[in-house]
Amino acid sequence: MKNKISIDIDNMLSFVTKQDFDAYVSKAVVACNILKEENGAGSDFLGWKTLPSSITMEEIKNIKRCAAKLTEKCEVVVVVGVGGSYIGAKAIVEALTNRFAANISEKRPTIVWAGNNLSGDFAFELKEMLQTKEIGMIVISKSGTTLESALAFRFVKKIIEDKYGRTDAASRIVAITDKTQGSLRQVTQTEGYTSFVIPENVGGRFSVLTPVGLLPIALAGIDIEALMEGAYYIEDKFTSDDLNSTNNSVLTYVAVRNLLYNQGKKVELFASFEPKLFALGEWWKQLFGESEGKGSRGIFPTCVMYSSDLHSIGQYVQDGERFLMETFIEVDKYDNDVVIRKDKDDLDGLNFLAGKTVGEINKLAQKGVAVAHTDGGVPNITISIPKLDAENIGALIYFFEVSCAVSAYMLGVNPFDQDGVEEYKKNIFALIDRPGYEEIAEKLKLRLKR
Ligand code: PA5
Repeated sequence: MKNKISIDIDNMLSFVTKQDFDAYVSKAVVACNILKEENGAGSDFLGWKTLPSSITMEEIKNIKRCAAKLTEKCEVVVVVGVGGSYIGAKAIVEALTNRFAANISEKRPTIVWAGNNLSGDFAFELKEMLQTKEIGMIVISKSGTTLESALAFRFVKKIIEDKYGRTDAASRIVAITDKTQGSLRQVTQTEGYTSFVIPENVGGRFSVLTPVGLLPIALAGIDIEALMEGAYYIEDKFTSDDLNSTNNSVLTYVAVRNLLYNQGKKVELFASFEPKLFALGEWWKQLFGESEGKGSRGIFPTCVMYSSDLHSIGQYVQDGERFLMETFIEVDKYDNDVVIRKDKDDLDGLNFLAGKTVGEINKLAQKGVAVAHTDGGVPNITISIPKLDAENIGALIYFFEVSCAVSAYMLGVNPFDQDGVEEYKKNIFALIDRPGYEEIAEKLKLRLKR
């Protein structure tokens, strides 16, 4: 099978010595073995590793059947979830669907992502829009208690029940949550919703290849079997590859980013010239940020969308403080493109481009920018997939998941916990008068008054 991921590191080589690079590859091998042997921190959360190889045809069929039912009934499906309970699905849906689908065909329900913010204005507009449509909901929460998603679930449930009555509403709501724990599981049982399980040993940000991602992705009409096959290709390679091999993309990526980090490149830009991949960058940002940012350590992950961002923070990237490294994500060949035609007046002076395609210009722009950034002191690498399709995106997802876990082990942190998020949650709960947070509330309110 053709290699699905390739990695080009030419534009970072001038920033490091061969000796340092080899030393970091050796460190990455050690970290890789921790993940392979499952003896590192958080090893009770490694269920994601075998998701591609262990999914059954029956599970795939169930997911597709559920997606087909929602498609039959609904013009709009609200996917309620936050963090790992929605970003991966959104990333894959946006990468693999026509961005103007809603204006072109009415065949598939429009997916609306909700429960990922606390905006009253968003809630109001969502409520208003849902009144006029045939609707359904997929609610996703592993804990079943997350504030944003629980609130959205409560009010969308009410809208659906008011519209269709409780029994019909139950046939329009699907829950994805823990097998037994949490209030969402309880409601699901009481109301008789169709439901799917998030395996106990899979954390939110590693859950896109469970029903968490697969159901919304199937609803968008994407081939989830192909997605899982692509992921399986990398799982299999990771399991069987010789770790001393010099072209192991995971080892290369992990070694490069950690070496550069230790040379002061504290921020990694996930850069793409394809707007459809912006949400993938958001997913990557959560995956790496929540897995590595611990104990006052970790690369700060952020994403840029070129060429648009060249006109905003392009100046900083080229010429600002030199703490940046950059990872370009490239698709070798697109199915679609537009040829630039000759114009008889040529008032814009662009006839020299006639015969070229917009996509070709985009690729040349990327090459030019990568070299400029190298010259400006931003080491960069390019990770490519051959095509923008389900199989290759599946491969990319698994590639980043493995890379993230290995990289966190190399950094010396547990990739699978996120204690840091408890701090702000405590303050929010205290300020909204959640029972049990009275003491924190008292102190906090005093501080806020000052
Ligand atoms: O990666 C994570 O663990 C988090 O981003 C969670 O997915 C997010 O907080 C949502 O949690 P839950 O699915 O329990 O509602």
